[in-house]
Amino acid sequence: MGVEFVDLFDQWASSYDNTVNGGDPEYKEVFKHYEDMLGELADISVSPVLEFGVGTANLTRKMVRQGKVVIGIEPSLEMRKIAKIKCPEAAIYEGDFIEYPSLQVPVRSVVSSFAFHHLTHEEKVQAIRDYEALLEPGGGIIMIDTVFQDKDHRRQLIEAAEQDGFLNLAQDLKEEHYAYMDELKQAFKAVNMDVTFTQKNKYAWLIQAKKGA
Ligand SMILES: C[S@@+](CC[C@H](N)C(=O)[O-])C[C@H]1O[C@@H](n2cnc3c(N)ncnc32)[C@H](O)[C@@H]1O
Repeated sequence: MGVEFVDLFDQWASSYDNTVNGGDPEYKEVFKHYEDMLGELADISVSPVLEFGVGTANLTRKMVRQGKVVIGIEPSLEMRKIAKIKCPEAAIYEGDFIEYPSLQVPVRSVVSSFAFHHLTHEEKVQAIRDYEALLEPGGGIIMIDTVFQDKDHRRQLIEAAEQDGFLNLAQDLKEEHYAYMDELKQAFKAVNMDVTFTQKNKYAWLIQAKKGA
């Protein structure tokens, strides 16, 4: 579900790390402080970790280097190939946020970076419900992604991208399913998880939700 972009990610895989390292001016601000953001998320995560949309394993690798057990889920074959080379210690499976192999280990953190916007709002609600159910007591969902504070904020970001001539970025902001903060808050509240949002750059927010002990 929500994997209609997989061809695009297969094509992007070989140049993806260049983009996140600032190589594409259009997406420079989106990935500003990329390594620091992933480092912070890795530090907060608790093993065993279930990661969705691992891409080229940049977050995966940080968590594995901290001695954590990571199970990764990634729909793009080309991304998985690179991820397995960069992080052979992690178990990385084909799947997506909604449909993935059944797990044999208790999960203490569900994590994801720059990927949750591939789900519609209804799919996000379902995913959050599923993750709350599979998490151990006291476990958490930790994500980094673009979040709109409200409709005005969305409009401002789109207009700014258009003024800068970043038309691909503007189109992404219009067409992809970036979450509204209030809608995400509601989805977490519905499963009794407290959630906090911390802004990390012009677009990206660290989202932390905790399940009761
Ligand atoms: C922008 S990349 C982020 C990769 C990595 N997490 C990072 O921080 O660099 C988005 C990733 O999400 C994956 N993806 C796309 N749709 C997905 C879905 N429905 N479920 C899980 N992952 C998905 C893509 O294949 C891609 O690897």
